[in-house]
Amino acid sequence: MSEPSSFFIATPIFYVNDVPHIGHGYTQVAADVLARWNRQNGKDAWMLTGTDEHGQKILRTAMANGVEPQQWADNLVEKAWLPLLETLDIANDDFIRTTDPRHEQAVQKFLTLLHDRGFIYQGDYEGFYCVGCEEYKQLSDLVDGEGEFEGQKVCPSHGRPVEVLKENNYFFTLSHFQDRLLELYREQPDFIQPESVRNEIIAFVTRGLDDLSISRAQLDWGIELPFDKDHVTYVWFEALLNYITATGWGSDEQEFERRWPAIQLVGKDIARFHAVIWPAMLMAAGLQPPRRVFAHGWLLVGGEKMSKTKLTGIAPNDITDVFGSDAFRYYFLRAITFGADGSFSWEDLAARYEAELANGFGNLSSRVVSMITRYFDGVVPEVAQSDLSDAERHIHDVLAEQTARANAAMDRFMVHEALAAIWVIVDELNGYLTEQQPWVVAKDEAARGRLAAVLYTAANGVRALAVLYSPVMPNACGLLWSALGGTRVLGELDQQLLSAAGAAEGLPTGHSVGALEPLFPRIDTE
Ligand code: MSP
Repeated sequence: MSEPSSFFIATPIFYVNDVPHIGHGYTQVAADVLARWNRQNGKDAWMLTGTDEHGQKILRTAMANGVEPQQWADNLVEKAWLPLLETLDIANDDFIRTTDPRHEQAVQKFLTLLHDRGFIYQGDYEGFYCVGCEEYKQLSDLVDGEGEFEGQKVCPSHGRPVEVLKENNYFFTLSHFQDRLLELYREQPDFIQPESVRNEIIAFVTRGLDDLSISRAQLDWGIELPFDKDHVTYVWFEALLNYITATGWGSDEQEFERRWPAIQLVGKDIARFHAVIWPAMLMAAGLQPPRRVFAHGWLLVGGEKMSKTKLTGIAPNDITDVFGSDAFRYYFLRAITFGADGSFSWEDLAARYEAELANGFGNLSSRVVSMITRYFDGVVPEVAQSDLSDAERHIHDVLAEQTARANAAMDRFMVHEALAAIWVIVDELNGYLTEQQPWVVAKDEAARGRLAAVLYTAANGVRALAVLYSPVMPNACGLLWSALGGTRVLGELDQQLLSAAGAAEGLPTGHSVGALEPLFPRIDTE
């Protein structure tokens, strides 16, 4: 098992049947921010993402477009899924594709291991299958269809009829793991979060588990079973394995030891796969279950999960082309309670951009840098203790308290709460400048000491903001950091410990600040 300093966070791997929408971007950004935050607190952080390329859904899409599935997947990965990472400034450490030889080889090794250990057997499967979900369904999972599907049972997520499957398959003995799974949930109460998803999973497992069909005989777009070449592996069974095939299981034990177990960040729709099937598979192989499964909510449009199938998908570019990637990253994590559903609206995005980024954080930063330039020839002034008042001591307390609050919230994955804490610092600093009116103090030659105290306190607060916001808004914070002379006097921004960001005198004095262009330019939202 990895050292406690290891922080391995993985996103689900994304289906390449279509291009990404902002729901996919939301997962990527959340994982990236958590990884950056932990890395910047000295953890051995590792972020993994990738693509899920096998199965019927991809095969059918490729065929409908008249190309081979591999060619279809290559094209989408290259033209859409890798560029998404650049669009959103995701600093992932690895990108796994389920068509990578490293994945295919390790999946076969895993299947052989489970087969040898007696956890895989042959049998007949008869039941329903939803290609959209790539999931076996029970009758009780289905709902009545509407419109063209009236009178039929349909999948609640896709609104389309399911298919009836009757095949000789291989099965994984999932039912054997019921007690061990329940024990895991009991012993590690934070294994599944949030609480609502945990309760749902516990109720589901308590009702009893069926064995899982893990092969398909009438499909050739998948990974062959090593013990029966007439079958390919059920797409979810091999997709889940990406988290260990990407981190050296079966090929680089040292790397695997260093990384595993992972934190699985997933949308709530796929929590069951990650909190039930996945740990059972690992238990069968004698491996540690994931460290934690955190299920975030959905981005909704018109009260429903945003999806391409329902034509409600919004391309991440549509937002970043106007507002920039920092604003995308900030907005979704700030506006939505992490773990709950949230609605996206252009109005809300534009309003927060203006109020919190342009007028709040951006304007505060510009004002502080330009006042140091104007009143102190651009040199960060030294402060005499005797010039400090209660107002500065209050700001010191705010920095220390809100930094601690942000760190504690991030430890609990409460990203929105961490951003709310950092926002208090912006708000307090703006209020402090309004009250202290340094532009008035500057007119009194005898009050140079007070002016220095106010501008230093503000600049140090802005330094703290550059550090605290940097995992979320790396571009704007990078600009601010260089304007503050941060790299020269304190080192690289991403090396600044977040836990220490709230220091009262964290910014050295005597060095020059540089020019600062507007961090969040005005946008004509007309
Ligand atoms: N390929 C599977 C996952 C296999 S993991 C071993 C899959 N792919 S997906 O592309 O359909 O969705 C992946 C993830 O995208 C979801 O779990 C979720 O994190 C994210 N989202 C997709 N639609 C979303 C919203 N409307 N809102 C928020 N997140 C969404 O499932």
